Amino acid sequence: MNSTNRQQIYLDFNASTPIDPRVESVMRSTMEYAFGNPSSTHWAGTPAYTIVDTARRQVAGLLGCKPAEIVFTSGGSESNNHVLKGIYFASQVRSPHIITTSVEHPAIVEPCRFLQRLGARITWLPVDSTGCIDPDDLMQSITADTTLISIMHANNEVGTIQPIEDCAQIAREHGIPFHTDAAQSVGKIPTRVDDLGVDFLSIAGHKIYAPKGIGALYIHEGASLEPLIHGASHELGRRAGTESALLTAALGEACTLARDLTAMDRIRSLRDRLWTGLKESCGDQVVLNGRAGQCLPNTLNISFVGHTGHELLAQIPELAASTGSACHTGRVELSPVLEAMGISPQVGAGAVRFSLGRTTSSEEVEIVIEKLGPLLV
Ligand SMILES: Cc1ncc(COP(=O)(O)O)c(C=O)c1O
Repeated sequence: MNSTNRQQIYLDFNASTPIDPRVESVMRSTMEYAFGNPSSTHWAGTPAYTIVDTARRQVAGLLGCKPAEIVFTSGGSESNNHVLKGIYFASQVRSPHIITTSVEHPAIVEPCRFLQRLGARITWLPVDSTGCIDPDDLMQSITADTTLISIMHANNEVGTIQPIEDCAQIAREHGIPFHTDAAQSVGKIPTRVDDLGVDFLSIAGHKIYAPKGIGALYIHEGASLEPLIHGASHELGRRAGTESALLTAALGEACTLARDLTAMDRIRSLRDRLWTGLKESCGDQVVLNGRAGQCLPNTLNISFVGHTGHELLAQIPELAASTGSACHTGRVELSPVLEAMGISPQVGAGAVRFSLGRTTSSEEVEIVIEKLGPLLV
C-alpha cells in the first residue's frame, strides 16, 4: 500500500477490498457515456441498458446461473435482508420458522431478530470449537413450519467454510428453500450455485475489489419471495429503483476477474507463511481460531494468549487488521462468533484476524512477523 514514513500494511481484505485498477478503468469509461436511464429506450438509455445487461451476465457467469436469476442490490446486507424478509412475507405459515447459525454476520442476525419480533421462530444452530455446524443438527431442527434455511458459506471472522452442499441437500429433501451468504467466499473459493445446491446466494461488491454500494442476490428461477423495495418494475419486479450502470459495470468486471481463483494459491501460501512465521517466533503463545483444513485461503484468525488484540494492533499502527473482541468500560467482550465457538475470554481477547488479498506481498508478511514477534516476549 502507500508508503509514508512507515510502510502501511493492509491485512483487512475481509472488511473491504480496494477497487481493482481493471474495475476502476471500466467505471471510468462507463461514466463517460452511459449516463442515461437503463429503462429508457432512446439513444441515451440504450448504452446504459447494455452495460447493466452485460454486468448481469458477468455476475451470472461467476455463479453459474441464468442472468435473469441475478438481482442487483446495494450489497451483502440488502441481499440478506431481501431473502429473509422476502420469504417471511411471502409465507403462508402463521409463525414461519427460520433456521440459521450462531456465527452469522449481523446482516443475517439482525433481520432474523426483527422477524422474531414479528412472530417468526428462529433456530440458531450451534457450532463446534472450529466454528463449523453439524448437518445432523440441521436435520433435527427442521419442522413442518420451516420456511427458510440460511447458512453462511464462509465465516467473515475465522474463515471457517460450512458444509453447504450437505446442508442444501437436506433442505432439498425437505422441500425447504436454502440461502447462503457468500459475501466472504465469492472470489476466494468456488461458488457456483448448482454445485452448492442453493436457491439463494448473496454477494457484496466491496469484498471482491468492486466499490461499496453494489451487490447481488441470486434467486433461483421460480422462487417466490416478496420484494424488499417496492416501486417500479426494475429487476424483473424483484427490486425497484433505477439501476446504476456505473456500479453494475464495476460488479460485473469484478465478477469476471473473480472467476480466476489461481491467485488464491499465492495468497494461501502467504497466509500459511504468516502462520508458521508467527508460530516459530511465538510458540504456544499463539493459537489458531478456526478450522485449518476448511478455511478461506486468505484468512488467519489467531489469538495471542495473554494479550489483547487491541493492545497489540495499537503498537503497530501501520498495520490494518481486525480484532475479535471489543473493550467496553474496561471489560473485554468477545465477538458473538468467538463466543459461539466456546473460546474462553482469556484466549478470545487476544484474537486478531489477518485477511490477505491480491496486493499482499511476501515482504509485508515478513514485516508483520518481525514486528509482532518481539511484542509477545
Ligand atoms: C459474511 C458477510 N455478510 C454480509 C456482509 C455485509 O455486506 P455489506 O457490507 O456489503 O452490506 C458482510 C460484510 O462484512 C459479511 O462479511
